[in-house]
Amino acid sequence: MRSIFVSLRQNTTMLRIDIITVLPELLEGPLSCSIIQRARDKKLVDINVHCLRDYSTDLKHRRVDDYAFGFSAGMVLQIEPVDRVITHLCSQRKYDEIIYTSPDGEKFTQRQANQLSLKQNLIVLCGHYKGIDHRIREHLITKEISIGDYVLTGGELAAAVITDCVVRLIPGALGDEQSALSDSFQDQLLAPPIYTRPAEYKGWKVPDILLSGNQRKIQEWEMEQSLERTQRLRPDLLDD
Ligand code: ADE
Repeated sequence: MRSIFVSLRQNTTMLRIDIITVLPELLEGPLSCSIIQRARDKKLVDINVHCLRDYSTDLKHRRVDDYAFGFSAGMVLQIEPVDRVITHLCSQRKYDEIIYTSPDGEKFTQRQANQLSLKQNLIVLCGHYKGIDHRIREHLITKEISIGDYVLTGGELAAAVITDCVVRLIPGALGDEQSALSDSFQDQLLAPPIYTRPAEYKGWKVPDILLSGNQRKIQEWEMEQSLERTQRLRPDLLDD
């Protein structure tokens, strides 16, 4: 096992994630397939998606955005619907973090995913393409996360990425054979190459060492490969 930094969730209680969005349908697919759906079925995580429009002050049109003050173009997410939904959720339980997804947030890393996977209750507010009333960020949000230096049309895909990374770390979400502890980045090293049958295809061979059955030698080889790949592809990880 290559992991050195990770502590896994021990809690027997379920992690709860509440996601607030204007586009719930964008989250349905990513959060209801494969490993994430299995984790939900096994009651390892309780994911609830809330449509911000349900908290609109405008009952007729369910609007949640308005023109920006000043000279900025584009619509801005209003403070009141966001405050309403967050106040409603916080009246029911205590949240460890209220996260806002935004390209100018802190860069999301495996380390952050590990930390979030140890929490009890999380809210994720999906960013809006033009922005949100800044008072939301000043007064309601406890953590701002960016999934990379590029701009998405909204924060929903970022919320799905964060949720996926966090949920797969919960013990029981992955099968043993897929253990999260051996992932790339889990110990600041890229994972070694892996192969499956056939051992030779079109003359392209699996490294002999992997067929040797010598566990110690295979582990040494995997560590060398991890180091070599990290040095070559992501030397910045070794600087940390
Ligand atoms: N919303 C738009 N772009 C984003 C990004 N890169 N990370 C998080 N939220 C975003």
